[in-house]
Amino acid sequence: ENQRTLVLIKPDAVERGLVGDIIARLERKGLKITALQMRTMDSELAEAHYEEHLNKPFFPGLKEFMTSKPLVSLIVEGDQAISVVRLLAGATDARKAEPGTIRGDFGLSNQLNLIHASDSEESAKREIDLWFS
Ligand code: CMP
Repeated sequence: ENQRTLVLIKPDAVERGLVGDIIARLERKGLKITALQMRTMDSELAEAHYEEHLNKPFFPGLKEFMTSKPLVSLIVEGDQAISVVRLLAGATDARKAEPGTIRGDFGLSNQLNLIHASDSEESAKREIDLWFS
């Protein structure tokens, strides 16, 4: 089943110069980039994007990090793209992510974890509408 998913290459990855490497991994897998934009998330978008985390203790720090510097947002498309991109991303906590995954290879934090990828069809649709309306 062809799917579209929203990917964010987070500010830590942009700052570290990993944008090309992360996009290359998605493309080499056979996924297609069908939209791409660099921008800085504002507080309103952070609250809408992370609505399910608004009341989590880590939300203030997450919002501070995500709105601090530019990030790259992409629509990524392909067969089972939602779960495939999450597999390539690895576990949320980069310290526990498998080597070979983006977080497993490049990260050492559960917050500065390089990439966001939609976790379901509903969130993919919601997040694509939010970022590319
Ligand atoms: P993401 O996939 O973008 O979805 C929610 C984000 O919150 C997650 O990646 C991390 O960047 C961050 N996050 C999740 N859990 C924690 C935590 N325990 N402490 C700090 N940040 C977290």
